[in-house]
Amino acid sequence: MGRHFDLAVIGSGPAGYVCAIRASQLGLKAVCIEEDAGLGGTCLNVGCIPSKTLLYSTHLFEQLAHEGGRLGIKASGLECDFAQMMQRKEQVVAGLTGGIKGLFRKNKIERIHGRASFKDDHTLVITPSGEKGEREEVTAQSIVIATGSEPIPLPFLPFDEKRIISSTGALALTSVPKKMIVVGAGVIGLELGSVYRRLGAEVTFIEFLPRICPTLDSEVAAAFEKILQKQGLRFHLATKVIAGHLEGEEVVLKVEGAEGQAKGQASHTADVVLIAIGRRPYTVGLNLEAAGISTEQGGILGIDGSFRTSKPHIYAIGDCAPGAMLAHKASEEGVCVAEIIAGQSPHINYMAIPNVVYTSPEVAAVGMTEEAAAAAGISVKTGAFPFRAVSRAHCTGELDGFVKIIADAKSDRLIGLHIICEHASEMIVEGVVAIEQQLTCKQVAAMSHPHPTYTEAIKEAALAVHKAQLHM
Ligand code: FAD
Ligand code: NAI
Repeated sequence: MGRHFDLAVIGSGPAGYVCAIRASQLGLKAVCIEEDAGLGGTCLNVGCIPSKTLLYSTHLFEQLAHEGGRLGIKASGLECDFAQMMQRKEQVVAGLTGGIKGLFRKNKIERIHGRASFKDDHTLVITPSGEKGEREEVTAQSIVIATGSEPIPLPFLPFDEKRIISSTGALALTSVPKKMIVVGAGVIGLELGSVYRRLGAEVTFIEFLPRICPTLDSEVAAAFEKILQKQGLRFHLATKVIAGHLEGEEVVLKVEGAEGQAKGQASHTADVVLIAIGRRPYTVGLNLEAAGISTEQGGILGIDGSFRTSKPHIYAIGDCAPGAMLAHKASEEGVCVAEIIAGQSPHINYMAIPNVVYTSPEVAAVGMTEEAAAAAGISVKTGAFPFRAVSRAHCTGELDGFVKIIADAKSDRLIGLHIICEHASEMIVEGVVAIEQQLTCKQVAAMSHPHPTYTEAIKEAALAVHKAQLHM
């Protein structure tokens, strides 16, 4: 008979580790089972953190190389030390994953290093990941599945993580490719494609849809694409890859127009092909049948409004559950489910979960796009304001982009905020507050925004909803 816990959490990503911490705060005896050596899941090890670290280094490099002279900063012999950039990225990851270890100790959370699978609906068998450790069983009153997601491969071009790479391979290259093709112009492709373009690679996108980033407001996406093109990224939209093979040192991709497009075929070659066509829930090897639960189409774990699977004491959260695959969404669910298990009645407002593309400029959004509002039959007013009319943007030269607000035409409530700006990831929180607090555009416009800051564009866009903008 193994050890018994109030709660067993499978996976230590932002869903699982946050859930374990909150459960422990609420007095539950929690164990977190993680098969990887490092805690923190995709986000800390091969996702948010390493990608943003490389985005920062390469952005700074590009700024100094291309903008320095204009700003009166002369730097000679500027070089990129790729190996050092990658090493620093590893240090940042190690520091933060070590931080979670500390949080587990502080909160008295048991951590088991191994792979969990169900023996029955209250028992998990844990197979040790490393050489050390013994197979063990634990039982738990409640079980949370937080096993995350994995990259989707092209069926005819499996990842070798050297020349046909997923985001994980792209974060671990040992040299900068001369030519990189990115299949999929979504978030991963645009962020990691930007990293390698800044380092000198020729980066070309092949995207199935006639636009980039399908979840963004289409006006924002069109403006974003133009900015990225100016930076040197190339896009083949409405194009699909139909075959691919290795030829000497190169990867050769055969493409043709996506449905409804001219069917002419073409070939493209590259040193490295990054496949970034989405991610799918990762539930392989959990032996869900033994627990009496099953996945829905696409491998997603079906859950009710309280994250319960068909077994009411087994929950699913984060990337392996329905909804956006975002770290902060996963963590909100981690807190929420821990509170539910502890007998509370928390709630998540999914409309107020923001998303950000960390390119330069950044693109951030919260709430509805104009198209989504139209599809929902909501009549809207919009207000937009460009950064070229914002004084702070002139101080820095970061003039690209604009703020767009979607307002409910009847109530004047702000229901969507969309920002293209170098600092959009920090600014978007104003939209989160406005949506959570059901603020009207008049209320947003009436609030003082510090001068000179980029946030003045939000105030102006809120004024523009009523055609009352001051600086345009
Ligand atoms: P994960 O973080 O994937 O964690 C799941 C964990 O479960 C893993 O550690 C895995 O090893 C473990 N596991 C799986 N099966 C078992 C098992 N049977 N036994 C034991 N352990 C198991 N999101 C953002 O919000 N912002 C970003 O900037 C961002 N950038 C990203 C960049 C990249 C390149 C990628 C790939 C993703 C990015 N994401 C970002 C998405 C974000 O990483 C995920 O949404 C988030 O990690 C999901 O958290 P999770 O806890 O559900 O799953
Ligand atoms: P994505 O869903 O963002 O983009 C995939 C793109 O590939 C789409 O534009 C889609 O139309 C296209 N596509 C799909 N199949 C294709 C095919 N066969 N050929 C050509 N194009 C094809 O997925 P991505 O970029 O892989 O990222 C996965 C998830 O990871 C994101 O949805 C996001 O949730 C998360 N993520 C979040 C980040 C952030 O918040 N900054 C950063 C990176 C990832």
